[in-house]
Amino acid sequence: MALRSIVKFGSPELDTPSVEIKDFSDDLEPLVQDMVQTMYAAPGVGLAAPQIGLNTRLMVIDITVGEDPKQLIVMANPVMLEKEGEQREEEGCLSVPGYAGVVQRPEWVKVQGQDLKGNEVTMEGTGLLARAFCHEIDHLDGKLFIEHLGMLKRDLIKRKIKKRIRQGDW
Ligand code: NI
Repeated sequence: MALRSIVKFGSPELDTPSVEIKDFSDDLEPLVQDMVQTMYAAPGVGLAAPQIGLNTRLMVIDITVGEDPKQLIVMANPVMLEKEGEQREEEGCLSVPGYAGVVQRPEWVKVQGQDLKGNEVTMEGTGLLARAFCHEIDHLDGKLFIEHLGMLKRDLIKRKIKKRIRQGDW
């Protein structure tokens, strides 16, 4: 088990749509363990494989950040089946550390995906969990939360980060 480095805004993996996992005969468990430990250490409530530089459709979520191990969700190839309502809350991302913004998300979602054996699973989430599902699926589609912000706020964050990248401070 090893902590992985989390790639940040500017890394091409974060802009790249990830590839579906087709072969579940590979043992995904060690990779998932690394992702979970990396998420808890950060700490964060979710982590998608592109954030550790792997463009594969795998995500882990735990809105209790390890407080309640039963809440850990590991899902491959997640797809949004249904959504309802809306919520507006401040959102951030381990790949965009230090920046946050209010993002509108559905209040409730139903997601279908696969477990590590390839079995189909369906899950529902409300509130923060619904937000986490949306955020991590966005990562698998090569999209960051800042793309949901208003143009001014988004451009301001991007400009600040690009300046920091130029200064070697990112
Ligand atoms: Ni994120």
